[in-house]
Formats: sequence, structure tokens, C-alpha cells
Amino acid sequence: MKILFLNGPNLNLLGQREPEVYGRTTLADIEAKVRERAKKLGADIDFRQTNLEGELVSWIQEAKGHFDVIVINAAAYTHTSVALRDAIAAVGLPTIEIHLSNVHAREEFRHKSLIAPVCRGQIVGFGVNSYVLAVEASVNVIET
Ligand code: DQA
Repeated sequence: MKILFLNGPNLNLLGQREPEVYGRTTLADIEAKVRERAKKLGADIDFRQTNLEGELVSWIQEAKGHFDVIVINAAAYTHTSVALRDAIAAVGLPTIEIHLSNVHAREEFRHKSLIAPVCRGQIVGFGVNSYVLAVEASVNVIET
């Protein structure tokens, strides 16, 4: 079972970026927690971050045949990217949308996700635990 974790723009700054919203945990710390949970559940993880929309699109396209599930925190591209939505729909792999913060409790422009309709589900608002819960959800998606 192979899970591809994709992280979008500015998530490389976690730990220093708006800590009152996103906490003080770095992306490297999050990756370590994800790997720990995945190991217990017998899943392989690839964990990537980019600030580039096109790179996310390419990674989604290339995932076909190599991964069973995609977990994506598309960050700001969640709210803007038709290209990401089309890539997820085109590839057809089960995809889980995640966010650290509760986007629905924030500014109105964050309430809309362009990728949500082509994802299996969303996990939002649990901080670092959104990522750990996504490992559980991925295993569940594969099993059912
Ligand atoms: C985010 C929420 C987005 O609205 C924002 O642009 C981010 C992070 C989150 O994980 O809470 O960069 O995806």
C-alpha cells in the first residue's frame, strides 16, 4: 500500500509561518509523524512539497500506477486551481484533501475548495493530526 502525500505552497514555512494559525510544528516533524503512523499500518509513504502549481499537477499525473492513494494539502491552490482539480479527476486515484486549519471557520475565500468535488473526502481543522488521520483514512479507502 503506497500513499503519496503532496504539500502545496508555503507549507515549507510551517513552524515559522503564522504560528497562531498553523502551530509551531515543521513540515519535517509532520512527515516524521506520518511515517510513524504509516509504519504501524504497513503503508509506504512518499512525502513531497512544492510551491509550484504545475509541479503538483505533474506529480498527480505521475502517481498513476505507482500509488494507491493521494493525500493532498494543496494550501492556497485549493481555492484557485482548476488545473489541480482536472489532474485529480483525470488520474482517478482516490484522493483525500487535508488542511491543518479549519478553512470553513476562516476567511470566506477559504470556504470554497475547487478540488473537494473530485476528492473522496476532506480532513480539516485538526492541525498536525489532520495528516495522521489521513493515513488512517487512506488505509480505509484502500480496504473498502
Ligand atoms: C491550508 C489552508 C489554506 O487556506 C491556506 O492557503 C494554506 C494552508 C491549511 O493547511 O490549513 O496555505 O491548506
